Amino acid sequence: MSAAIASARPLRLGVNVDHVATVRNARGGFYPDPCRAAHEAIMAGADGITAHLREDRRHIRDEDIERLKRQILTPLNFEIAATDEMVEMAIRVRPHAVCLVPERREERTTEGGLDVAGGRARLAPIIARLGEAGIRVSLLVEPEPAVMEAARALGAPVVELHTGAYAEAVLAGEDERVRAELARVAAAAAHGASLGLEIHAGHGLTEENVGVVAAIPEIVELNIGHALVSAAIFVGLGDAVRAMRAAMERGRTPNSVAA
Ligand code: PXP
Repeated sequence: MSAAIASARPLRLGVNVDHVATVRNARGGFYPDPCRAAHEAIMAGADGITAHLREDRRHIRDEDIERLKRQILTPLNFEIAATDEMVEMAIRVRPHAVCLVPERREERTTEGGLDVAGGRARLAPIIARLGEAGIRVSLLVEPEPAVMEAARALGAPVVELHTGAYAEAVLAGEDERVRAELARVAAAAAHGASLGLEIHAGHGLTEENVGVVAAIPEIVELNIGHALVSAAIFVGLGDAVRAMRAAMERGRTPNSVAA
């Protein structure tokens, strides 16, 4: 067995099913069903299911969260804004994990990380309350060393590094910016892990750009949605998940073929 395989920590894949609900909601009704998508993703090797209940309910709805919690045994990661309404729902549903994200109605997707330092007074009691309920809390944050320290000071056990800027640089084909953004993610991951934080990452990750992120050894979970649901239109969700896992594996253990 190669040294790369021996030393690489497992990397979990959380499949975000939000955009299955986006397609369903385009016509109303019941299909495609995000719960069915969750089952298919799990059968294909997803380690967890992620769903984001937005304030405007533009994709996932309250009843989707309840059904996901009832129907799947695999860890459910419930993404919410730090509002009283959402926190009460999380306490009631008790998912395995909650990821706190910033939310602005006008944004197309979650466009950046939480203001961890500025939001301290609001976030600290929410993190404590969710933790007391037995829910693992993560914070979606910008990949910056100071933010890692602020997250640690708030008592969050996990951070999810926002990889949107890296993904945009890849899309723009700007190699220097890609290198800089990737270095930013890697440095934040190393710093966060040295403080004792568990490190996740997500946003804009695709089969093509995921490899170098998967190679960052401190990252133990990736949450991926849009690229998987997009690929599913052409190859089905099971094959899309399997291809993403294979791309993650190639990035994590680059010598695996030679081993
Ligand atoms: N992680 C978080 C915290 C998110 O808000 C999202 C988008 O809902 C994702 C991961 C998945 O991002 P994408 O859909 O771009 O893969």
